[in-house]
Amino acid sequence: MSSIVVRPMSAEEWPAYRDIRLESLADEPEAYGLTFAEATEWAEEQWRNRLSGRSVFVAEADGKLIGTANGAPHESQPGEYFLFGMYVTPTWRGRGVAETLIDAVSAWAWSQGARNIDLFVNSILPRALGLYAKAGFVRTGEIHTMPSRPGLEMWRLRRSLTEWEFAVRRVDAEVLYPLRRRVLRFNDPSRIVADPRDHETESRHYGGFVGPRLVVSASWYPSTSPVDPALPTWQLRYMATDLDVQGLGLGRTVIEVALEELRAMGVAQVWANGRDTALPFYDRTGWARVPGSEHLSPETQLPHTVIYRNL
Ligand SMILES: CC(C)(COP(=O)(O)OP(=O)(O)OC[C@H]1O[C@@H](n2cnc3c(N)ncnc32)[C@H](O)[C@@H]1OP(=O)(O)O)[C@@H](O)C(=O)NCCC(=O)NCCS
Repeated sequence: MSSIVVRPMSAEEWPAYRDIRLESLADEPEAYGLTFAEATEWAEEQWRNRLSGRSVFVAEADGKLIGTANGAPHESQPGEYFLFGMYVTPTWRGRGVAETLIDAVSAWAWSQGARNIDLFVNSILPRALGLYAKAGFVRTGEIHTMPSRPGLEMWRLRRSLTEWEFAVRRVDAEVLYPLRRRVLRFNDPSRIVADPRDHETESRHYGGFVGPRLVVSASWYPSTSPVDPALPTWQLRYMATDLDVQGLGLGRTVIEVALEELRAMGVAQVWANGRDTALPFYDRTGWARVPGSEHLSPETQLPHTVIYRNL
């Protein structure tokens, strides 16, 4: 079976998002507030705006979009977050794609501070009701009726996220590859995202998870220090926080957990080729820059600087 990746979408990808959203509106008009006719009138700017909040998720298999789901804070109920626009293309139904999309949006909402996520579902869609029940949504009792559609009820459902937490765990390198690819390699399927050392016994790969969803990757390899070759030193590579949850302290937490373990193993220093765009992050988290080490990465052609941190 092809592997399915669920990921946040960027505004630049609006044409592909428009296609899957229009497909959903044509396929299941009863399920959505927006109509196909309305959506076909949307200008590029509206599609881009929808994606600019980084809370639109898509499921992808073999480079094709096969599903989508959105998250958003409620317009007039502060602190309430909603899931909407949930869709999986018919040939991919029944394979867990929808649940992964729900988890992705839930993790985004959790990282924004939400401890519940709500949705409205049409009471005549048994398949959707079954899916949401399986994902832990329960009825709140709130019902909306539409005067134009007698007999049709929209039920408000709620999934509690109070048990969710941010957890840092060691994982196999492969678990991190889709995240490495999309955050660090422009989501380009042709780019190599494996390091030759990934499967050496000493290499350590850490994942940061919000609930079931992987959102941070960091891999560590024994290596010679560029500053003092006598020190027991490891290299950090593939430091990446997913696009919708950057700047929330999650990357820092993963580094601190890993460094505590490395310190306990007798490691005295860590180093990395830090992307210049990420240097403010490394400055904030205790790393120093090696003067004169500025260079272009052969893999990405992006400016980098050698950085290190004594433990
Ligand atoms: C760089 C990156 C890994 C940081 O992870 P993150 O989870 O977003 O960072 P955190 O939220 O833990 O940030 C920790 C601190 O650094 C600051 N910070 C993070 N990124 C920053 C940036 N680009 N500019 C300024 N400050 C930044 C945060 O505001 C926070 O500051 P605080 O001390 O006031 O709380 C992440 O933004 C990312 O994946 N970027 C794209 C890929 C990349 O460049 N990776 C690094 C390759 S070397």
